[in-house]
Amino acid sequence: MGFANWYDEHVVPRIIKCACSSPAIMKIRQQVVPLASGKVFEIGCGGGINQQFYDPAKVSAYSGIDPSGKGLDYARDAAVAKGWQADIRQGYGEAIPFDDASFDCVVCTYTLCSVESQAQTVSELRRILKPGGRLLFAEHGSAPDADVRKWQGRIEPIWKRLAGGCHLTRPISSVIAQGGFTLTPLGARYAPKTPRWAGWMEWGEAVKAG
Ligand SMILES: C[S@@+](CC[C@H](N)C(=O)[O-])C[C@H]1O[C@@H](n2cnc3c(N)ncnc32)[C@H](O)[C@@H]1O
Repeated sequence: MGFANWYDEHVVPRIIKCACSSPAIMKIRQQVVPLASGKVFEIGCGGGINQQFYDPAKVSAYSGIDPSGKGLDYARDAAVAKGWQADIRQGYGEAIPFDDASFDCVVCTYTLCSVESQAQTVSELRRILKPGGRLLFAEHGSAPDADVRKWQGRIEPIWKRLAGGCHLTRPISSVIAQGGFTLTPLGARYAPKTPRWAGWMEWGEAVKAG
């Protein structure tokens, strides 16, 4: 294993687990994840941070995928701590290993920044949802202010390499809406105590349209 692979497999999951547990981000998770109900699928479940926020009285089954072996270890540990049966598999959002229309709800937090193809992943999330199913999301991405966006563009090439392919300049809500969802925003703002280039957050609920 070369240094780059070793860094991505062992260092990145630890950095992510730490960065994605900031108080500002945990507060957003608390607003979004407990809304999940029925048969739930979580994309990018690595790290397992969200599991503590699911309401087991509302969730009838939990499944998730992530490409990262170390991230999956954390997610499986979180499932044991939660004391629930979880179907956690290695996989990519661009080709989700579950059947069409098999979930009531999809949870996607801080993952559309890192997938290879946002459009293909959103299309896959739509495919696995039942008609009228809900996508709950919380993501960071392209800021509304031009000066911040300029810095996001400058920093992104190096940031991507350090942070497991995480992009700073990607749109959030618009890409979900364009993927065939009707959006209800729940919030959008710069996270406090976070550099603005990394801190623009949007979260909400999106219903599978059509
Ligand atoms: C910033 S972390 C967020 C982890 C978790 N979703 C959370 O909210 O804490 C991004 C996650 O996306 C995962 N990821 C990267 N590429 C992916 C892909 N193509 N499909 C699914 N997940 C991917 C990474 O392994 C990592 O676990």
